[in-house]
Amino acid sequence: EKGEFRHFMLKEIYEQPEVVKATLQGRISATKLLEQAFGNGASAIFDQTKQVQIIACGTSYHAGMIAKYWLEDIAGIPCAVEVASEYRYRKHVVPENTLFLTISQSGETADTLAALREVQDKVLASLTICNVPGSSLVRESDLSLMTNAGPEIGVASTKAFTTQLVALLLFTLALARRSGLSEAREAEIVGALHQLPELLLAAVKLDASIESLSRAFAEKNHTLFLGRGPLYPVAMEGALKLKEISYIHAEAYPAGELKHGPLALVDKDMPVVAVAPNNALLDKLKANLQEVKARGGELFVFAGADHIKPEEGLRVEQMPDVPEILEPIVYTVPLQLLSYHVAVLKGTDVDQPRNLAKSVTVE
Ligand code: F6R
Repeated sequence: EKGEFRHFMLKEIYEQPEVVKATLQGRISATKLLEQAFGNGASAIFDQTKQVQIIACGTSYHAGMIAKYWLEDIAGIPCAVEVASEYRYRKHVVPENTLFLTISQSGETADTLAALREVQDKVLASLTICNVPGSSLVRESDLSLMTNAGPEIGVASTKAFTTQLVALLLFTLALARRSGLSEAREAEIVGALHQLPELLLAAVKLDASIESLSRAFAEKNHTLFLGRGPLYPVAMEGALKLKEISYIHAEAYPAGELKHGPLALVDKDMPVVAVAPNNALLDKLKANLQEVKARGGELFVFAGADHIKPEEGLRVEQMPDVPEILEPIVYTVPLQLLSYHVAVLKGTDVDQPRNLAKSVTVE
């Protein structure tokens, strides 16, 4: 039940600090991944894995896109990501020793399941990261890692996404160990994961401040979301949330693509949201923000402490300091809250947006 919350979506956003604990429970020690979490036979499969093909839809696809950055960066393993509805209907090449990874909240998404069935005997093995025990994807995959987020009622996926990211980070560690990840680096990442519940709590506490931002969006017809690196898929997820529950047209771009087209759209009626943690790409992103400002675009930037100064036309929402590896997880929360409050202001049906179903069991 919703309890004190007005909508399931808000309740599920607030549950995130708790449910990530359940995702991590029994899967990490103080300093290490506990690989048994992936089940019998997983270690032998990971030993042979030479690449990863990720298949998912919607929000789960965005989680997969973030995992690609992690897998290639930390595990040094090639990774391809594709939406299930495309993959299943095209002739694709499956390189030898491919681990086929599906990501799904429901475990029943028709296209994802069909892609798994189609590819099953061409791959090394299949793994699903899934939230529903006993679902079709779990039953039909060789391996599964449950996200343990608990039932997600709101049609707009929130806690399923952040717990998928946690599970994907565990998966990245499993493969990275086999490609020279040092014990010290593993301990550092696991240490960061232990801090995650607290950091998510700090992000949820920005709620009131984000609610005050939401007024700037409710009357607009379009919004642009920008990010770089693994924050680009976070921007995509922010745009999807805004579209699906507030019905405002939103698009996400990797900030470096701005001048290749979308900058032409920017004017005072096109608010631009940027996720801008203090990482190696911040200076590049700042230059992109200046391009937006110069065209009169109103900017809303989620940023680490004091790295971006507020000015006329540029509002900064200060985020807690976050270990770089966790940035995509923590920076997702304010975007969820933003779309939630915009939808409430617009009076839409937040938990059951028009035209959408929670589980897409038909293609
Ligand atoms: C968006 C959303 C959808 C789902 C998509 C895949 O908020 O909920 O985009 O992410 O339909 O669903 P699952 O993860 O159940 O396969």
